[in-house]
Amino acid sequence: MERVIGTDELQSGERRSVFVDDIPALVIRIGDQWFVIEDVCSHDGQPMTDGELIDCSIVCPRHSARFDLASGRAMCMPATEAIRVFSVEIRDGAVWAAL
Ligand code: FES
Repeated sequence: MERVIGTDELQSGERRSVFVDDIPALVIRIGDQWFVIEDVCSHDGQPMTDGELIDCSIVCPRHSARFDLASGRAMCMPATEAIRVFSVEIRDGAVWAAL
């Protein structure tokens, strides 16, 4: 696993663009839950960096597909395929992630 960010570096509702294994990714904190997703929409390959967060999902700012942050599942059209999500561990005061 790769160290992504310190747990004191984001507040709930915040996000940061990172690279994990050279893959563009978003680390997102919601309460005490941490998510690391590949920052590439499965619909048209666009980044979702500034997408709206709703509960534990993100809305792609391009055409409004919505993805579950935990599973990557596409929740509405126009996306039909999941995005990749990283496995996450919290230890030593940091977030660690791997595909
Ligand atoms: S690129 Fe994300 S919904 Fe189209």
